[in-house]
Amino acid sequence: MDLDFAQIVPYIPFIFEGIKVTLLVTLISVVLGFIWGSILALIKISKLGPLNWFAVAYTSVFRGTPLILQLSFVYFATPQLTGYIISAFEAAIITFTLNSGAYISETIRGGIMAVDKGQWEAAKALGVPYRRMMFDIILPQGVKHILPALVNETIALLKESALVSTIGLADILKNSNVVVGTTYRYFEPFLIAGMIYYVMVMILTWVARGVERRMRRSD
Ligand code: ARG
Repeated sequence: MDLDFAQIVPYIPFIFEGIKVTLLVTLISVVLGFIWGSILALIKISKLGPLNWFAVAYTSVFRGTPLILQLSFVYFATPQLTGYIISAFEAAIITFTLNSGAYISETIRGGIMAVDKGQWEAAKALGVPYRRMMFDIILPQGVKHILPALVNETIALLKESALVSTIGLADILKNSNVVVGTTYRYFEPFLIAGMIYYVMVMILTWVARGVERRMRRSD
């Protein structure tokens, strides 16, 4: 067994610097993904003809192909198709937003459909217009089913964000790979990276549990 943490200690702050990139990519993408996902979900629920068809096909494609392939497309094919030299950070945000939007749209759609049918019927019977019914009656109740799933989506994205290391973004995984390259040690840098991810996921899991408990209490 050949373990030497002393040799790695000077590099630990460098690995920690990756947290900034990991968190930025995750949080920006989940917020933008939520906005995009909400739009897609509303299109699907309102059954808006060709738009509905687009939203369904979109979701299917983004959930049906590997995220790393989508990232490669956006990063490497954008310059070829448009001439625009996209930065790795832009490519990461765009890809994760587009991908997450697909997943979140289904979460939101499910949450809204789970609102008791009686609520829709009562609103219609009372002549409440569609928009007001959605925003004042259905959505506030749907949020309850959606919130815990959104935290889970954030956890998934946080871990998937490690893929950005493949296009050179200096996240936790990339930085630990750099340390591997300089020290020729694998176990120690990867162990530290794993511990950082794990602690971040545990914190989010704890948040998710709190949110769930609150939602249940309001039932
Ligand atoms: N690893 C899977 C993929 O490559 C899952 C992506 C998960 N994305 C998400 N937004 N939850 O496609």
